[in-house]
Amino acid sequence: MSKQFDVVVIGGGPGGYIAAIRAAQLGFNTACIDEWKNDKGGPAPGGTCTNVGCIPSKALLQSSEHFEHANHHFADHGISADNVKMDVAKMLARKDGVVKQNNEGILYLFKKNKVSFFHGRGSFVAAKDGAYEIKVAGAAEESLLAKHVIVATGSNARALPGAEFDETSILSNDGALRIGGVPKKLGVIGSGVIGLEMGSVWRRLGAEVTVLEALPTFLAAVDDSVAKEAAKVFKKQGLAIELGVKIDKVAKSKTGVTVSYANAKGEAQTLAVDKLIVSIGRVPNTIGLNAEAVGLALDERGAIVVDGDCKTNLPNVWAVGDVVRGPMLAHKAEEEGVAVAERIAGQHGHVNFNTIPWVIYTSPEIAWVGRTEQQLKADGVAYKAGQFPFLANGRARALGDTTGFVKFLADAKTDEILGVHIIGPMASELISEAVVAMEFKASAEDIARICHAHPSLSEATKEAALAVDKRTLNF
Ligand code: FAD
Ligand code: NAI
Repeated sequence: MSKQFDVVVIGGGPGGYIAAIRAAQLGFNTACIDEWKNDKGGPAPGGTCTNVGCIPSKALLQSSEHFEHANHHFADHGISADNVKMDVAKMLARKDGVVKQNNEGILYLFKKNKVSFFHGRGSFVAAKDGAYEIKVAGAAEESLLAKHVIVATGSNARALPGAEFDETSILSNDGALRIGGVPKKLGVIGSGVIGLEMGSVWRRLGAEVTVLEALPTFLAAVDDSVAKEAAKVFKKQGLAIELGVKIDKVAKSKTGVTVSYANAKGEAQTLAVDKLIVSIGRVPNTIGLNAEAVGLALDERGAIVVDGDCKTNLPNVWAVGDVVRGPMLAHKAEEEGVAVAERIAGQHGHVNFNTIPWVIYTSPEIAWVGRTEQQLKADGVAYKAGQFPFLANGRARALGDTTGFVKFLADAKTDEILGVHIIGPMASELISEAVVAMEFKASAEDIARICHAHPSLSEATKEAALAVDKRTLNF
């Protein structure tokens, strides 16, 4: 006998668990199925983000930044800390503890919101009388009947052909987050978000890191001036980044991995490393979903085909997050999850793809929202730019971190903000003001006229807005 639900969510990552909570808040009898297991085989909801993504990577970035500060920056404050050591096992245990708190938090939220949680793999069995039969394969087998299904099965790391992940020497994000000791030499393929964040962690802890990137341009999706500043700073920090490479072969040896590649000039090169992180993007995950059983349409990349409202080709089947088109970001997945639950309830759920912020949690942090200068040029939009350096910001000086700047791009005629690009301390937090401003279609002058606390990093945002009108006060 099937258990009946109004809404069944398959996948308990940020897209799925948030969709389930919102559906339950709206009065639907809701279930969420997730198969992630912790080290004891128990449930670990939260998906990639919580288990092997956003949360553990930020925990390691924090630990390694403390280590770097103790070694290189405490002295500026008059603090002497000789013989600073990193206990990698303890750092990893702390990270695992942070992950566990988040797993438990989600289980608590399910209880609080009366979401029925099923631990196991969910798959379509058949469409039946206007509903969908879903099988859960876990410790026990269950059958669920759902009026609405939300698929939120996420994504998996993309492997290089001929170099499968073994998580010992060839590492995906999973292995990269649990290297048991600092490798002497670490190779990274792909200078995207994971490559830079994980490369930074292990470089700060003492690894010699080389990043090999296929594209000739560094951080091509980022505003040009930010990408240039980032390249300069990362180089100074000791992160070696080679652009325009073509990987030929990855071979494992007893001691590590050798990468054969052609450099930008086409010359054959080899890189011998102890560990290799491959971070060349992610692929949508529909493994085990049995999409064929109900005729759920996938595209050539394996992503579930959806329209702008996350509707699939099947009535009452929706899909959100990494398994569909759009940026693979936790907050994008969450927004889609909320919007879908609201659409099921007949409300007007909405996701504004033009105001999704991006953050790279390196040091300095990089964050942006809206269009880059190169995009505006390509789109033929007349714009004005204003920039303010953290070097001229009192709080940044007091913090001892004056790298980078805030940059505004505004429409030349209307002054509407079209993009904000930040490289510098706490860019991840500062970007929120720009997101709010763009959501409300604010002009640069609106931000320039708002009182910002002194001394604060956010004054750099105000000053960059003033710079659009060429009237900064502190630079
Ligand atoms: P996922 O989080 O992948 O969750 C999918 C869940 O569904 C998983 O638990 C999976 O086990 C489960 N599942 C799959 N198939 C089934 C099935 N058939 N039955 C039951 N369960 C199933 N994004 C950010 O916004 N900020 C960051 O700082 C950030 N850092 C990242 C760092 C790393 C190293 C990585 C890899 C990613 C990072 N991301 C970050 C991206 C972010 O993790 C993803 O965009 C986000 O997790 C997508 O959420 P989702 O719910 O779509 O999928
Ligand atoms: P990515 O798309 O950010 O970067 C992949 C990089 O690899 C690109 O620069 C690409 O040109 C390069 N590349 C591709 N094939 C290659 C090859 N054969 N040889 C050399 N280089 C190659 O992907 P990444 O870093 O794997 O991250 C996946 C996704 O996870 C990101 O796109 C992002 O959506 C998400 N993420 C988000 C984070 C955040 O928000 N802070 C942190 C980490 C991941």
